[in-house]
Amino acid sequence: MILTPRKREHIMPLPVVLISTLSGDGVKNAAPWSNITPILRPFNDIVLGSWVKRDTLNIIRATKEFVINVPTVDMVEAVMVCAKNYPPEVDEFEQAGLRARPSRNVKPPGIEGCLAWAECTLVEEISRKNYSLVIGTVVHLEVDEGFFNEAGEMDYERAKPLSVMLGDKGMYFTRPVFAGRYAEYSEMFLSQENHTPVE
Ligand SMILES: Cc1cc2nc3c(=O)[nH]c(=O)nc-3n(C[C@H](O)[C@H](O)[C@H](O)COP(=O)(O)O)c2cc1C
Repeated sequence: MILTPRKREHIMPLPVVLISTLSGDGVKNAAPWSNITPILRPFNDIVLGSWVKRDTLNIIRATKEFVINVPTVDMVEAVMVCAKNYPPEVDEFEQAGLRARPSRNVKPPGIEGCLAWAECTLVEEISRKNYSLVIGTVVHLEVDEGFFNEAGEMDYERAKPLSVMLGDKGMYFTRPVFAGRYAEYSEMFLSQENHTPVE
């Protein structure tokens, strides 16, 4: 079966995070985001794809700060409330019944009940006609230790982080499960001697 190129978004699972921001007027904003990825493994940077008309993008441009919150599947209804196109003066934490959690290094609060909170500052915005790529760097990272081990690995079967598969007219919310295979990073290297350990 051949799909139109636009449906490239249908062919892979995507993460779901909530991006929290704080406007210059002190209004708390939260929006679900799936176009998000850490940029390679040993670095601190992360990239978001943003449609041009997003309060989140405007606030990040103005304040240069945001928090990436990782919600659980139990938060899916709040996620969908935050997805609504409220005007910028509406506090989306209040609309979705989300509790603010003070951040350590940035002004926007995190969201209580999430699994992890990555406090970020803006590094660069790459603007295209209809979208922007926002590169941020994580300046503080905190996780709910009830769901992470000492190495910082998530017990995802218990934590149930939210993910999504996009469809033609809607989204199927999903969650990751173990596929039965664990692989050391070192398996990727033909020669174990040349292997540069990652921090
Ligand atoms: C699961 C999910 C993922 C989304 N991912 C993105 C995304 O990656 N980029 C984007 O621009 N909008 C995305 N959206 C849409 C925004 O969340 C939505 O337009 C929201 O109202 C934006 O809020 P804001 O205007 O307060 O920033 C997503 C929505 C959902 C439900």
